[in-house]
Amino acid sequence: MPCRICQRSLELVCDFGRMPIANRFVTADEFAGEYFFPLRLTWCPHCTMVQLAEQPPAEAMFHGAYPFFTGSSRRMQEHFATLAATLQTTWLCGRGNPFVVELGSNDGTLLQHFAQAKIRHLGIEPSANVAALATQRGVATTTEFFSDAAARHILAQHGPADVITMSNVLCHIAPIHEVFAGFATLLAPEGVVVIEDPYWPAVADQTAYDQIYDEHLFYFSLASLTALAQQHGFVVIAAEPQWTHGGSMRYTLARPGTHAMQPTVATVHTHEQEYGIATAAWHRDFGARCAASREQLRSTLEQLAYSKSSVMGYAATSKSTTVLNYCGITTDWLPAICDTTPLKQGKFSPGAHIPIIPAERFHSEPPDVALLFGWNHAEEILAKEQSFTAAGGRWLLYVPTVHLR
Ligand code: TMP
Ligand code: ZN
Repeated sequence: MPCRICQRSLELVCDFGRMPIANRFVTADEFAGEYFFPLRLTWCPHCTMVQLAEQPPAEAMFHGAYPFFTGSSRRMQEHFATLAATLQTTWLCGRGNPFVVELGSNDGTLLQHFAQAKIRHLGIEPSANVAALATQRGVATTTEFFSDAAARHILAQHGPADVITMSNVLCHIAPIHEVFAGFATLLAPEGVVVIEDPYWPAVADQTAYDQIYDEHLFYFSLASLTALAQQHGFVVIAAEPQWTHGGSMRYTLARPGTHAMQPTVATVHTHEQEYGIATAAWHRDFGARCAASREQLRSTLEQLAYSKSSVMGYAATSKSTTVLNYCGITTDWLPAICDTTPLKQGKFSPGAHIPIIPAERFHSEPPDVALLFGWNHAEEILAKEQSFTAAGGRWLLYVPTVHLR
């Protein structure tokens, strides 16, 4: 498979082995028919885009029972409330009857703020179950994949968009050139595209290899996103770091000459150059750190099992699928993972088949050690679980290094 951005040849960064669909929590009778694919991370030495070598078909990943709800974390709700307010006071300010479009609008966590403010909006969400939740909240939503054809249809119905936004969505999309063609079709002449995604240099810096799974096809940096944007007649006019997903970046794209480039772009660009993200050595080093992290987590769990300490996983995140399968963790070391999502409870984790139990069991039967798969929500979770820590419970984390605390 050549680079999906510039069509030239890719280089291997890390082979994570045979992997199931990260969000496909299964019942026992589904074990035999589980879908697996080789999870291999590559990078393009020409345009710098980091990407999976192969990705399962979209239908295998996003289905009617997609179990991820943006609104399930309080801090994520706050993050999107702030983003809505920021968009209103910046790019939408002074526009007559503005129109906002969100790709992958999920349960309407962001767009509900526009619905409440009576601002014209449209969410485009391919997973029917989460789209239904948004509709219930009064968020205008269509259940489809965004494309140039979809953009033409929306343009004819609603007129051009002043803002097209997406958070943790663009990195999932294989027909990315089609999506950029849709931006060019739908965006008003002075409109902007606001994109938030995990920031690859932050992921790699923390050895957060659990961000790498089937749904995340691309791992953007300012350099690689700029290369992609240029192909479609856009420039990046702002790049602002975000705390979400353990380190993300918000990129604002516009047509050349329509808006001034903000100083953040030069700052992030300089940082990426100094950091050396476009070198083979930097990527080799990341691959070596992933392998070392795996050995450390395995030996820690082995020691805990040997000393008869009970261990429970905390939060059956999509990220946990990569950790469990790459590290070869079984129920011998990890008998269960607790999670707040009813759709996951009573099922088994993909591939590793660790039982998912209700979050309440963490309180009724607290383990000696909690393996924190929701490490990106650590602040929220540790504050919520103070009584566990006060009673002598310990947390096992693996980002940025494997450590007990
Ligand atoms: P993710 O956004 O990192 O994929 O994690 C979402 C999962 O974590 C979801 O299944 C809910 C679960 N979760 C808990 O079980 N407890 C918590 O306190 C938080 C914040 C998330
Ligand atoms: Zn390339």
